Amino acid sequence: MRATWNEQYEKVWLDFLKNKKALCLSKIKNLLSQPVPVQRTADDLIMEADFLYMQGALEGNEEQSLKKALICYQLHEKVVGAEHNNLKMRGETLLRLHRYEEAFNCFDRLAELNISNPPVLFENKEISQAWLEHEIIQRKNEGADVTELEKILQFICKDDFFVNIFGDAVSQRTRRTIIQTLPHDLQKILQNLPQRPLYNKLSIPVPNNFLNNKDWSKIQSEYQRTGCVVIDDLFTTETLNLLRKWAAQSPSFQTIRAGFLGAFPSNGANFEIIRHSAEELERLLPEIFTGHPLGLWWFFKYIPGVGNEGIGLHADPAAININIWLTDDNARESGGGLEVYSHVPPQEAKVNEFNREFNTKEEELQLIEKLKQEGETHTIEYKSNRAVLFTSDRYHRSIPFEFKGQNIEEWRLNFTLLYGDRIEHTTQMEITTAAPDQEGWDLF
Ligand SMILES: [Fe+2]
Repeated sequence: MRATWNEQYEKVWLDFLKNKKALCLSKIKNLLSQPVPVQRTADDLIMEADFLYMQGALEGNEEQSLKKALICYQLHEKVVGAEHNNLKMRGETLLRLHRYEEAFNCFDRLAELNISNPPVLFENKEISQAWLEHEIIQRKNEGADVTELEKILQFICKDDFFVNIFGDAVSQRTRRTIIQTLPHDLQKILQNLPQRPLYNKLSIPVPNNFLNNKDWSKIQSEYQRTGCVVIDDLFTTETLNLLRKWAAQSPSFQTIRAGFLGAFPSNGANFEIIRHSAEELERLLPEIFTGHPLGLWWFFKYIPGVGNEGIGLHADPAAININIWLTDDNARESGGGLEVYSHVPPQEAKVNEFNREFNTKEEELQLIEKLKQEGETHTIEYKSNRAVLFTSDRYHRSIPFEFKGQNIEEWRLNFTLLYGDRIEHTTQMEITTAAPDQEGWDLF
């Protein structure tokens, strides 16, 4: 019986990720109806937990399945101890159950595990010019001696020494490589880097309000009419400053992308202000968010001179996307806004088919042209503390930019929250991207 589970497990996940809802659900129901063995192994527990998670998700966040999934994840931890995928899935289950505080704690545990027991071998860890520059500035601000880190930066910036292990033009431009391409003495420096605190708990009393007063009912009706609404001056000054300060010192910007750095929940981007803001948004905009719990969030920080392209054309697999720019307007020289189109990728597409970097600029520009011709384009200019709330799976892209870069607070910084699963669109607004033929630059 368990042989069927083993055999079906990967296939069911693939159906789930490809959004093949009916097929996936019928397979899961069949698998879960099979008799349970007296003694469940760790593998049995994690498979059962994941099947229940998927079932709960596919049935509109059905509580009983999700709660049963949680129990299985907990039992699995009792058998094998804390494990990365278990903590990630448990956090996601808790979000779907709207138990945000517990979910944030779970992601913090995952971030700590990622540090104490990294999922990739040290020598295979990615580093890049952007990551090094960022580490150097943050550590210097904390009073550390960064002379040795500066040596590594000089090393990977020199053409003679840089090894483009990924072999693509973007990695060449952004100086992305892996640790084992460095000489041993430089590898040692990285191995001995002291860990830094996550700074996720406030050291002052939690503010009463996180968002400024707005005409929320007008925002709701505009969103329902157009699928894209701009909210200026979203955060209170206090919240904005807390988020900026957190981002300036947080060690969670560990996800390396094409010229920018990402801070995700699994990296430790679980500052309690994020949770409070997400909850307040839901409370003030119930017609938009009800039935679409928070699913994921991140901060992206763009290194001046390296990340000026921003993020190319893509779509994010969720119901609602809220993107807020945090860097002060005085730091901006030009550009930096967002273009949101009206079309979405096909419903049954895997995330990495529409959430990735394109292989060539031409390929991307061709699709942008098509989107502009066949649908409406919302062009939103960059403004600090401006939020863009839009149907998340619509194609969108950054408008290239220039920001000052004297200090870390001047780098372009955006904060994104995704809520809910992709909704089924009733009108025919699907446009496909070419299937990816190489791995390496997914957006998340
Ligand atoms: Fe996006």
